Amino acid sequence: MLLGVNIDHVATLRNARGGVEPDVLSAALICEKYGATSITTHLREDRRHIKDEDVYLISKNIKTRLNLEMAMADDIQKIALEIRPHSVCIVPERRQEITTEGGLEVANNLKNVKEFIKPLREKGIIVSLFITPDIEQVEASKEVEADSIELHTGAYSESFHIENGEKEFQRLKRAAELAQNIGLRVNAGHGLNYDNVFRMHEIAGLYELNIGHSIISRAIFKGLGQAVEDMYKAVKNV
Ligand code: PXP
Repeated sequence: MLLGVNIDHVATLRNARGGVEPDVLSAALICEKYGATSITTHLREDRRHIKDEDVYLISKNIKTRLNLEMAMADDIQKIALEIRPHSVCIVPERRQEITTEGGLEVANNLKNVKEFIKPLREKGIIVSLFITPDIEQVEASKEVEADSIELHTGAYSESFHIENGEKEFQRLKRAAELAQNIGLRVNAGHGLNYDNVFRMHEIAGLYELNIGHSIISRAIFKGLGQAVEDMYKAVKNV
């Protein structure tokens, strides 16, 4: 299993003062140095954290892979087609939400999703869909010809205090198995932290975990390098 680090909240902190500190590219490079195999940024429509110039700069300077999270918005699609990140992860987006709250509705939106991701795939960008671990969303992701899915681990993480999130964990496991059986690559993320991440090892074949908030939070106390290394060890089980 690989570790992708989401660095949006380095930009959140920077934007709080409107200046240049902390530097987002430096954060990405530290994450790579301490075990990240990809860097995720979410270019939100309201640009509340990551800005266009961050994405350009990161894509040019990182050594690993850029995973660009984006809504199904034409202007962001244009940027993605220009930058050509290694992968994009299509997420639902509502302006008022604090973070990405739900999964992408694929099953009831087959035509739109398929049309939206086609030009991205034609440019050689790996397209992943951020979905809830529901059978119909997994099957729909295959139907629209996505390469990959990212399973939303938010419900699992939130219920972790109840029997280690057993019920939600089983949902994730079933969805991951089905997805792999029909040829989709499976990533997972949202709300994963140093306590709950260990159960991801019980899901065979997970490709990459995308983790942000818990790592950036730990970085305040331990430094970013140490926080990434701690998570790297948890993900690699070493
Ligand atoms: N994956 C996706 C698709 C997300 O939208 C987010 C949050 O931006 C994450 C992973 C990372 O979630 P967290 O910050 O809770 O680790």
